[in-house]
Amino acid sequence: MDGNGRWALSNSLNISKGHQKGVQVVKDIVQESVQQKISSLTLYAFSSENWSRPKAEIEAIKKLVLTAIEEQVPELIEQKVKLTFFGRHDDFGKKISKKIKEAEFNTNTSEPSLNLNVALGYGGRQDIVDLTKNISSRVLAKEINIDDINEEMVSNSSCVPEDKIDLLIRTGGDKRISNFLLYQIAYAEIFFIDKFWPDFEKDDFISCINKFNKVSRRFGARI
Ligand code: IPE
Ligand code: MG
Repeated sequence: MDGNGRWALSNSLNISKGHQKGVQVVKDIVQESVQQKISSLTLYAFSSENWSRPKAEIEAIKKLVLTAIEEQVPELIEQKVKLTFFGRHDDFGKKISKKIKEAEFNTNTSEPSLNLNVALGYGGRQDIVDLTKNISSRVLAKEINIDDINEEMVSNSSCVPEDKIDLLIRTGGDKRISNFLLYQIAYAEIFFIDKFWPDFEKDDFISCINKFNKVSRRFGARI
């Protein structure tokens, strides 16, 4: 969800207004995902690298995370959307950690209409380092053998709730991955959209889904 800052600047607004508008767009895209019967939607809200931003912007984002959870959870419950956060979100402090735990508990349902995963303090390379340490320690403790390590185990040891991502959409105009879901996007169809996230509309999302549905996905085979 890239382009909040540039959207704010291009509209002569404070950066935090861009993030605020970005949250409104999230609400629309979540609604549309439920409509489209998409099983899961994973959002990149804050990367490990975003910690290097100015303190004022980080504080504004922290406040926004709290208010967004407070405002949107009732609607998520109504829509049967199951919310899961991943990444090092404990770094956001006790208040946010508590809110996250509550939101996850309150939206937990056995048959969700949509799994909504939010990456907060997440970095793909850090995740790979962490899961490597985790698997290595299990080998050292003789809980598993080296030969037990397979793609499924790597996936299950990652903090990312989804295994294989089908479609990746990056707004904002830049054509890069920026440390997102490195392992899980191995065969993702990638769409780079030349619009700032706050300008991304339901119709843009639907157009991505329609284009995705027309792609011939061969997964390396000759079909
Ligand atoms: C995406 O928008 C939101 C976050 C990464 C928190 P940006 O804040 O990166 O927007 P630009 O790239 O500065 O326009
Ligand atoms: Mg950006």
